[in-house]
Amino acid sequence: MRTQVAIVGAGPAGLLLAQLLHLRGIDSVVLEAKSRHYIEHRVRAGVLEHQSVDILNEAGVGARMMREGLLHHGLMLRFSGQVHRIDLTALTGRAVMIYGQQEVVKDLVAARVATGSPLHFEVEDVQPQEFDTDRPRVLFRSGGTQQVLECDYIAGCDGFHGPCRVSISPTELKLFERVYPFAWLGILAETPPASEELIYANHERGFALLSMRSPTVSRLYLQCAPDESLENWPDERIWSELQTRLGSGRDLDLRIGPILQKGVTPMRSFVAEPMRHGRLFLAGDAAHIVPPTGAKGMNLAITDVYLLAEALARHYRDGQDDRLNEYSATCLRRIWKVQRFSWWMTMLLHRFSDDSEFDRRRQLAELDYITSSRVGAQSLAENYVGLPL
Ligand code: FAD
Ligand code: DHB
Repeated sequence: MRTQVAIVGAGPAGLLLAQLLHLRGIDSVVLEAKSRHYIEHRVRAGVLEHQSVDILNEAGVGARMMREGLLHHGLMLRFSGQVHRIDLTALTGRAVMIYGQQEVVKDLVAARVATGSPLHFEVEDVQPQEFDTDRPRVLFRSGGTQQVLECDYIAGCDGFHGPCRVSISPTELKLFERVYPFAWLGILAETPPASEELIYANHERGFALLSMRSPTVSRLYLQCAPDESLENWPDERIWSELQTRLGSGRDLDLRIGPILQKGVTPMRSFVAEPMRHGRLFLAGDAAHIVPPTGAKGMNLAITDVYLLAEALARHYRDGQDDRLNEYSATCLRRIWKVQRFSWWMTMLLHRFSDDSEFDRRRQLAELDYITSSRVGAQSLAENYVGLPL
């Protein structure tokens, strides 16, 4: 089996890369460990930067997003018992789109299937090999049969736990990591969103976030212990804690509804440098993880593969490798700014077990500054809607 680009992983990064390459006349084969049903129902992120919206539209997969997605022009910050609006559009001229990651994945899978190009689900034992030579290849098993996929390039879009990054010699990688002493308990609930816009809450008892997926489905998160067991969180406790942290009664009409999905997300900042090793390119969560507070994970995956598709197109169309050579440095410059913002939002909104009274006052003063100074608000807004490519 032979292709131009072997893509490992069918998350937002791998699937979008396949579509962008297809539009540029470049062949690829996508290898995914899970089933189609599994990846289309994995509930994760939900906020798309304006630039991600443009890229998905340009890739021809934005029609349903434009119909069903919710365009948001502002967000709410809640602290000290009050809510303050950050007017994203007044501050930046931009907006963000609320559209679930699993919907993006469904649209991308449908587009891939329509091209008739290979997308193999439930493959096993994927091994990227010989990427430091001119003849890289990926070994894998499909339906019990061992396969060899020869290619020009390998795109490691296989997420944080995938095989691509770990196949690089540790001496060639520099890793940067910060693990936070808390996690998020996230639920998807069949209840109309209690607010038209997202609410990020800094509360004595910890962070909470109100988000949504549609006019009838809410997505809600609570800061919890990093090793939290879902058994400790019966539905009543989740609703009661959300009401306490987000405000209820006069402030907010948070209605209890059936919980469709529950999960705990660990919080981590992570970067692996560089993102290119010979003919292997890492993209998305395979190369970096951000804590979810800034809503950046899926957006970084989208911008990485946009740059990679452009770089590969320049190679195949013009015979020039300058963009491929610059890929890692170009991505990392932006990634570190997004890492900084995600870390900053996390530090601003969560409670730390060793918070001193000084830290607490400083955190509230920073929130007060952001919500009372145009310049303070503008910096948050500029990063939230997305920095330029
Ligand atoms: P992924 O979506 O992880 O895709 C990688 C793909 O590779 C997967 O389909 C995986 O099955 C496949 N794969 C792995 N190993 C192999 C293998 N051996 N062979 C073949 N395929 C393989 N971000 C936010 O902004 N907000 C959130 O609320 C949020 N919640 C999250 C919750 C969870 C549980 C996780 C894990 C992430 C969350 N994120 C969130 C981050 C965001 O979802 C990711 O940044 C985004 O999915 C990155 O896309 P990706 O394509 O790089 O990686
Ligand atoms: C959602 C997730 C986030 O991490 C965030 O910051 C905002 C919204 C969401 O899932 O809707």
